[in-house]
Order: sequence, then structure tokens, then C-alpha cells
Amino acid sequence: MAKPKIIIAIDGYSSCGKSTVAKELAARLGYNYIDSGAMYRAITLYFLRNNVDFKDSAEILNALADIHLSFAFNEASNKSEIQLNDENVEHYIRDMIVAEKVSEVAAIKEVRAFATAQQKKLGKKRGIVMDGRDIGTTVFPDAELKIFMTASPEVRVKRRFQELYASNPNITLEEVKHNLEMRDYIDSNREESPLRQADDAVVLDNSNLTREEQLEKVIGWVEDRTAANAV
Ligand code: DC
Repeated sequence: MAKPKIIIAIDGYSSCGKSTVAKELAARLGYNYIDSGAMYRAITLYFLRNNVDFKDSAEILNALADIHLSFAFNEASNKSEIQLNDENVEHYIRDMIVAEKVSEVAAIKEVRAFATAQQKKLGKKRGIVMDGRDIGTTVFPDAELKIFMTASPEVRVKRRFQELYASNPNITLEEVKHNLEMRDYIDSNREESPLRQADDAVVLDNSNLTREEQLEKVIGWVEDRTAANAV
């Protein structure tokens, strides 16, 4: 019996380790991994570079018309990296300057419509793992497997701090904590597709799981879903 390719949606708060599990899962299954947050970050970078007024709908629509987003696989990082108008901006979008504004930009209706339409297209061929905040609720409400990830706030702050410290040794734990709390608040309370657990999502709390343990758990769920959908 052929195993059908499914869609796997992974949602959750900032710095829960969504991209780590999504990337490993996609590699194991031979699926495409799409980091939807990178799209919102690249749009934010464009807005910042071009001084787009976040409150001006006409300016926002004009800017979006000039934005072309794509992903290109980088063998070195083993990941599809975001391209903004054919420039690889993976490095710039991880900067604190972008992190501080991205939730505000991701809450804009026009921005969400733009990003969501592209994300839906990327899922047409199935065989995809996408992580974000609204993947199981809005982008792929019919995804065969929906995972909602959580981890304790202390674990998340520590992980994010370690990640950022490598490129910015001046960063403080307090700054990272404040940014995560602010983003969680905006992401969960915005009007347009706020972050919430889909009714049919399975919860993965990885506060006390190793990378291997969490991957095995998720692979088990995938096997259940693909067996249920086998043709
Ligand atoms: O996953 P991330 O931290 O790179 O995401 C950056 C921001 O983008 C996050 O604060 C919320 C937003 N986002 C969103 O609103 N919807 C998504 N599907 C993915 C990210």
C-alpha cells in the first residue's frame, strides 16, 4: 500500500522549538519544510528598509505588490532559506530589530492575506511540514496532522537567549524575555487569525524531552495518520 504524502501543521508560541522538530521531521520524511514565520519576518524587513508606515493601508498594499518571496534550499544549513526579491535574507530576519516589529506587522490584515495565499499554494503538492501560529487553524485547516507545541517559559527564554547570544553577545536574558512575552501577547490577541490551538491538534510539550524523544513521538503520530490515509 502506498503511503500518501500528508500535510503537517505545527503551531505554537515563540521559541518552543517548532522549527527544530519541523526541520528534522521533513528531512526524515523527505518532505518540504516551510518556515512561515520567515515570510512575516522578510516582509517586516522590507517594511523597515523602505520606511513603510504600518498604519497606512495604501502604503502597505503598494509595498506588498513589490515583494516577491521564495525559498531556496541551502545545503550548508540543510534548510530552505527565505529569499526577499531574490536576496537571501535569512541572516537579517533573525535580528532583534526585526523581532521587535514582526508581531505588529504580522497582525496587519493585508499582510496576513498576502502571506496566507502563498502558504496555501506551497501546500498544493502536499508532502509539507509548515510551522507558524495559524497553520492548523487558517492555512491548512484540513491538515492530516496538527501539532500544537508548548514549553515552559523558562525553557523558551533560555533557548532563545542561547540562539541569539551566538551572534550578539551584548544581549541580555531580560531583553529576550520581554520580546518573547510581547510577541506571545500580540500573536494571541490580534484580530486576524490569532494563535490558538486547533480543536483537532495534538499537544507536544517538549520542556523535558530530548530532540530524539520528541522526533520519535512525532514520527509515531505521522505513522498513525499515514496508515489511516493509505490507499
Ligand atoms: O516563528 P517566528 O518567531 O519566526 O515568527 C515571527 C512572527 O511572525 C511571530 O511573532 C508571529 C508571526 N507569525 C504569524 O503571525 N503567523 C505565522 N503563521 C507565523 C509567524
